Amino acid sequence: MTVKHAPPARPVRLAVMISGRGSNMVSLAQAARNADCPYQIALVLANREDAKGLEIAHSMGFATALVPHASYGKDREAHERAVHQALVAADIELVALAGYMRVLTPWFVGQWAGRLVNIHPSLLPLYKGLDTHARALNNGDREAGCSVHWVSEGVDEGAVIAQARVPILLGDTADSLAARVLQAEHGLYPAALQAVCLALQQAKSPPA
Ligand code: GRF
Repeated sequence: MTVKHAPPARPVRLAVMISGRGSNMVSLAQAARNADCPYQIALVLANREDAKGLEIAHSMGFATALVPHASYGKDREAHERAVHQALVAADIELVALAGYMRVLTPWFVGQWAGRLVNIHPSLLPLYKGLDTHARALNNGDREAGCSVHWVSEGVDEGAVIAQARVPILLGDTADSLAARVLQAEHGLYPAALQAVCLALQQAKSPPA
């Protein structure tokens, strides 16, 4: 009797979109070094030339793309059409926003519906938008955290995929809390994306 083994599923081609230092991008890259990781980073794309993470991605050997929003003036959709083209040219299957500091147009969100994920430094639905840590401290919260969620048209409103919680400690400042939450982000994002990619691979694999 011969037993047929299904061939290992191909890693999902992931693009990471950044605007700044890119520490989440690095944590995603570190997880991708594991042979079992169901995604590979096929592109790191930035909208700012001075994004530190772009340099880091380049030095790690990743394909990078710079699509500066400043070149498109107020035409947000024209900028995002250029971003979309770069993603399509790199055969991207899933996009992870990691500190990408632009609100995306409905056009772009529609193009990538179900394939566009973000990480946000709060326990959504609490504290959508900016200054999440200061707002949690001002409200006297006892815990904070981060959320990985699908991107929909409303800012930070898409369905939550996974969350991690951290305590708020006596004497915390917005900075000390941000550092604790960021550490949690670095564990949460790779784990959540691996789960998403396994589900995508299963959805694609032919029935046994
Ligand atoms: C993170 O806190 C992330 O949750 C938010 O932007 C920050 C990006 O940090 N969306 P980094 O560029 O990944 O270091």
